[in-house]
Amino acid sequence: MANIAEIKLDNKTYELPVVVGSEGEKAIDISTLRDLSGYITLDTGFKNTGSTQSAITFLDGENGILRYRGYPIEQLAEKSNFLEVSYLLIYGELPNKEQLASFISGVTHHTLIHEDMKKFYEGFPSKAHPMGVLASMIAAMSTFYPDVYKTEGDVDLTIQRLMAKCATVAAWSYKKSIGHPVMYPQNRLSYCANFLHMMFAQPTDDYHVNPKVADALDKLLILHADHEQNCSTSTVRVAGSSQANLYASISSGVSALWGPLHGGANQAVIEMLQTIRKEGGNIGEWVAKAKDKSSGFRLMGFGHRVYKNFDPRAKIIKKACDDVLQELGIKDPLLDIAKQLEEIALTDNYFIEKKLYPNVDFYSGILYRAIGIPTDMFTVMFAIGRMPGWIAQWKEMREGKEPIARPRQIYTGPVNRDYVLVEKRK
Ligand code: CMC
Repeated sequence: MANIAEIKLDNKTYELPVVVGSEGEKAIDISTLRDLSGYITLDTGFKNTGSTQSAITFLDGENGILRYRGYPIEQLAEKSNFLEVSYLLIYGELPNKEQLASFISGVTHHTLIHEDMKKFYEGFPSKAHPMGVLASMIAAMSTFYPDVYKTEGDVDLTIQRLMAKCATVAAWSYKKSIGHPVMYPQNRLSYCANFLHMMFAQPTDDYHVNPKVADALDKLLILHADHEQNCSTSTVRVAGSSQANLYASISSGVSALWGPLHGGANQAVIEMLQTIRKEGGNIGEWVAKAKDKSSGFRLMGFGHRVYKNFDPRAKIIKKACDDVLQELGIKDPLLDIAKQLEEIALTDNYFIEKKLYPNVDFYSGILYRAIGIPTDMFTVMFAIGRMPGWIAQWKEMREGKEPIARPRQIYTGPVNRDYVLVEKRK
């Protein structure tokens, strides 16, 4: 296999190294091209640009493959649990018994947030979007737990704090939005059961977590845990490359996740299904609208930058969704609309030709609804799931001593011109 690429520019040939990944993926290393030739490469939206070499997640969009540290997502979703998967992503290998127990204990014992931080909730408007609250609270954590990072132990402590406290911050933002008192974490509960407790328990009632619901939530978090160099993860790595602390870097990732083209799509899917239902449920009409570019409407939950076959996470979630609805005896009319939409879109030439398949967000919203999570908390759920991935990517970037991220550009504005005093301007 050639390990040198040749590029011809202005009648000169330049040799550039070819990098090959462990799954045979190939890249041309263009980092010296500008110094050699004066040219840069241009790739808006990074559609064909590798920003790093990473050993965390392997994704083959053409064949619908997703693996964390080599382990297929299907096996992890079936046999592992969220905290074990988090350890795997962050530290590179599955933990032994002691390592797992110590990690779980660390995450469990850091779920409380500083009482002074509780006061911040009084400053947010009651209708504040919980993603705005989450991003702000995570950034604020850096002021309460300033990073020192003198020893490896400091980083591990910060990791445990983030994993633990993001669930508390998220659940409390929901309690605040409905004007209820916050529920303190319970260390006897598992990660997901504790989150459900903080979301749905009331001081006035006994609340028992349904273990099947906690399991389904755990599976959802596993499926969201990492997805290589997506928009929010790249944001975390870019922010962290300036040596910004872990809280600040993750907070910027939360903000990037918020948009409807990324993590915000799960909320947008449910809103779309509700609109379709409200307006009579004529699925064909909506599919036609999605195909008509001038309508500005897209089928939310369809399409993906890298999956051009199917999203393996969507398959697992679809099944989990059916199981939970059955367990809870819920019949959700939105699920019927989603299934019809999927059926029509998957047999339509527009979607087939453009390789647009349901993505992870298409079904996750239905599952969150069944669990009782309000719509504007869906993207927060995605953020809780993505936390170990962001942490793993930040850690890999820092340990690899990657340089500060600083892309170049092609300037298209006015060329040099002289300033004119305002009274002389026409
Ligand atoms: N409905 C209708 N047409 C679509 C859709 C859609 N959902 N998605 C893409 N297309 C069309 C698009 O109009 C374009 O057509 P053409 O080639 O004729 O111009 C073509 O398919 C390629 O689309 P693109 O926008 O150039 O592709 P992209 O890779 O830049 O965008 C995407 C990927 C996910 C942003 C896009 O498919 C989309 O907007 N989907 C809906 C939002 C969504 O579900 N996002 C969640 C992604 S999964 C969660 C995550 O990992 O972030």
